[in-house]
Amino acid sequence: MAIETMAVVGAGQMGSGIAQVAAQAGLRVVLADASADLARRAVEKLGASLEKLVQKGKLPAAEREAVLGRIRPAASLDDCAPADLAIEAIVESQGVKVELFRRLDGLLRPEALLASNTSSISITALAASTKRPAQFVGMHFMNPPPVMALVEVIRGLQTSDATYQAVVALARKFGKTTVTSKDVPGFIVNRVLIPLLNEACFALQEGLASPEDIDTGVKLGLNHPMGPLTLADFIGLDTCLYIAEVLHRELGEDKYRPAAILRSHVAAGWLGRKTGRGFYRYDQ
Ligand code: CAA
Ligand code: NAD
Repeated sequence: MAIETMAVVGAGQMGSGIAQVAAQAGLRVVLADASADLARRAVEKLGASLEKLVQKGKLPAAEREAVLGRIRPAASLDDCAPADLAIEAIVESQGVKVELFRRLDGLLRPEALLASNTSSISITALAASTKRPAQFVGMHFMNPPPVMALVEVIRGLQTSDATYQAVVALARKFGKTTVTSKDVPGFIVNRVLIPLLNEACFALQEGLASPEDIDTGVKLGLNHPMGPLTLADFIGLDTCLYIAEVLHRELGEDKYRPAAILRSHVAAGWLGRKTGRGFYRYDQ
């Protein structure tokens, strides 16, 4: 089945970026969030971010208009019904995602595909909550989706070859390189990344060094684009904690236990850039 119309549910940093990538590749996109107002504001924000690229001479003004013309904010989830593929990028919580997929399963045509951008939750379990598990797949974009070259494709136990191949072909149409992971907690990228970020949190909580020195040490010492605490703030500390909890619970090893300082920041509502404060302040 040709994928020409895509629904993206969850218009936060990942969903907005995925919508941009799909529209830039020529797909028609419906962008949905918990309310019509949130979806509309996300499309406005996307327009402002594309305008910056126009100002920098990186995107022709006409291309900005064309891309925005292909993205429609959803008035309600019902607007996702005509999609050939619906991808979810809502909060990293299994219960909330299952509830959403039940609704999407009831709305979309029987031949349509469902995908999750989850960072860590079992694709097999999410697929099992729908009546089309063979048409369910993990399509894991990296943050920020318009800039990062990778899409990790995760096959659940039930994912059919046709579904897997359709999503790999779509990711390539988006100009992305794909890797394929088994459905294990954290998949490939977060299995490696989250222990690194969590270790930086332990280093901070033990007073090994200041946040700035931990970040500069890793950034320059390992030639990473961002230090680990900056990257955790960028991803969102709530998302980092949720992934760390999944790794700890599902893999059952003490080495994955989330650092207390990560828990306390999330409890305080200091979720990183998106709330203006995480390990660093962004509100000044
Ligand atoms: N659309 C298209 N291009 C965009 C864009 C957008 N919305 N936003 C920025 N860009 C472009 C910029 O124009 C710029 O292009 P040039 O290099 O041609 O100038 C480029 O992207 C970099 O942007 P900036 O100059 O604004 O910023 P930067 O150089 O400081 O880089 C960064 C920012 C790309 C985020 C970089 O710091 C980086 O790579 N950080 C690490 C990100 C990372 O590790 N992501 C993975 C996180 S893990 C994950 O995602 C999985 C998970 O489940 C948690
Ligand atoms: P975010 O907090 O920026 O955005 C989440 C959006 O989902 C919000 O706009 C929220 O209003 C919306 N939402 C929440 N519940 C909803 C529901 N029931 N129906 C509709 N909309 C709902 O989060 P994010 O960083 O964009 O992450 C989204 C997903 O992508 C998570 O599963 C996360 O693990 C995954 N992910 C995140 C990153 C990252 O670096 N942040 C990278 C790859 C994957």
